[in-house]
Amino acid sequence: MVNFIPQEKIAEIQHASDIIQIISEYVNLKQSGRNFIGLCPFHSEKTPSFTVNPEKKLFKCFGCGEGGTVFNFVMKQEGMDFVEAVKSIASRVHIDLSHLETAKTSFSTAEKASLLKITNFAANFYHKILVNSEYGKIARDYLKQRKINDHSVQNFRLGYAPDSWDALIKICKERNISNDLLEKVGLIIPKKEGNGYYDRFRNRLMFPILDARRQVIGFGGRALDDSTPKYLNSPETVLFNKSNILYGIDIAKNAILKQHRSILMEGYTDVIMAHQHGIDWSVAVMGTAISKQHLRQLRQYCNQVILLLDSDTAGWKSSDKSLDIFVEEEFDVKIAQLPKGHDPCDFLVAEGVNKFLEYVNNAMDFFSFKVEIAASKWDMSTINGRASAINDVLSTAMKMPDVIKRNLLIKRVAEEMSIDEATLRTHLKKFNKQLPVSNRQQVVEHRLNASAKVERELLYLMLSCNDFIPRVLKEIGLEEFSNEDFLKITEEIIGLYSKNNVVKGEDVLHILEDVQLNKILMDIVTSEEFQNIANYTERLDACIHFFKKRNSRREIHQTKKKMLDVVKSGNNEEDIVVLLDAFHKKTLNSHVLKGKV
Ligand code: UTP
Ligand code: MN
Repeated sequence: MVNFIPQEKIAEIQHASDIIQIISEYVNLKQSGRNFIGLCPFHSEKTPSFTVNPEKKLFKCFGCGEGGTVFNFVMKQEGMDFVEAVKSIASRVHIDLSHLETAKTSFSTAEKASLLKITNFAANFYHKILVNSEYGKIARDYLKQRKINDHSVQNFRLGYAPDSWDALIKICKERNISNDLLEKVGLIIPKKEGNGYYDRFRNRLMFPILDARRQVIGFGGRALDDSTPKYLNSPETVLFNKSNILYGIDIAKNAILKQHRSILMEGYTDVIMAHQHGIDWSVAVMGTAISKQHLRQLRQYCNQVILLLDSDTAGWKSSDKSLDIFVEEEFDVKIAQLPKGHDPCDFLVAEGVNKFLEYVNNAMDFFSFKVEIAASKWDMSTINGRASAINDVLSTAMKMPDVIKRNLLIKRVAEEMSIDEATLRTHLKKFNKQLPVSNRQQVVEHRLNASAKVERELLYLMLSCNDFIPRVLKEIGLEEFSNEDFLKITEEIIGLYSKNNVVKGEDVLHILEDVQLNKILMDIVTSEEFQNIANYTERLDACIHFFKKRNSRREIHQTKKKMLDVVKSGNNEEDIVVLLDAFHKKTLNSHVLKGKV
């Protein structure tokens, strides 16, 4: 990797950054002794094994093994490379890196920040037109008719994109915002013929979409009449990925945290109307299937979801397995079904909040719901129909990763579908092939042989006392490393040391591109077993001794073999004498070494 940011600058940025604060933007952290813990954003879990240590400025997940510095966290979380992550954190701590030449071709953090400025500017522009301008009257009337009040307009920063081909382009030109960037955030579209651009959103009620960090990442624009499409959304951009966004999470997250549950709906207006009625723990997927990313975000704030999808949603009543994702992710999910033909927004307006809450509070348990669906889908009066229905429900139950819960579910399925549990279990064997392979306890485990163990300790020692590095090189040498991973890490250590005369664990973590190596080094740096080393020099001596001993053993073995060959081939005696001499010296040496152990 071309690491053009100087090491000391990286160290300065890391020092200035608050790892707890930065990770807290993504993970709900609680203090626990000297560490902070939370649910890992990189794998699914219900009990926190994601740990951040503010003193060491490191994070580590004991569930999936992910770990590293604040840079590694941002890299993984934001899909950035190392340089981007450093720049992103530098800008948060106001360290200026602008003088450094950037060799990046893809978008940089600075560019992302400037894109966010533009989306924010556009949100404000649309909002002002809705609230203040005569052009916005048509949208204000529409809102009145939809019973969306002023507070909601402010709360959700609603706006109106005027009926013009270039209103946004013009105002941005005045502000020196380039068309190039406007196009990158999907707000304008290049004309098919000739040069120039036109505004993507015209004559639409605008819903800015914000992420959990309250940054405007995209827009939905609703037609004010029956024209199609009903909603026009931002295209996929570097900021916007529709399939993992929860609309409203920016406003709802604190309430969800307090409630320990959330309502998951489908549409912009559903969320707005729910919040307007005080149900501020509501969010929506934006008309897309519920994804793991959605649930992982929610998991940061709650462990129960009440699903309130439109009753006419395709796939909702069908055999569709998309809701099984809740079981796979071990989410406590309940289903609330509004009367046919209603979506949450209409229902709230028509029936009021109390009736609405009745439905929410009477939400059905997910498996009862599954049984109901299966029973309505198949002809339960026939044997084949019943068997198919049972298969449907079982195939969902089998996705439960937790064995105990899975067994309880099977019991319940048997009860609810009134079939003999023993028969069901026999039947189940068929499913065993489909058992979910739980990948959650994939802790990186190294079964190390004796020399690899020593190499591992050597790594720790070199990082703890840089002065040891020359000695290791001189007395052992890299060629002696038996473990390829440790060798690669050691090469990086030596590289940095020879360049800067000093090298720390985190420096190496920064330049290791390989995720696996990164984990291995994290394990070493944070390992409990090395924390109590009293005398580093003593440990180093022991390690060096190990290598010497191993080498002399290997040499003796080789000499023996050679002697045997010479004897066998009946070669001249002189050769044998030379070899014997070498052999004696080596065994002597080896005895001396042994005595030291
Ligand atoms: P709905 O059609 O239910 O819209 O689509 P809605 O949110 O209830 O809006 P109103 O109350 O009829 O005005 C649900 C969600 O699906 C996405 C939007 O996110 C919408 O909120 N959607 C729908 C689109 O992205 N494009 C469309 O054309 C329709
Ligand atoms: Mn709807």
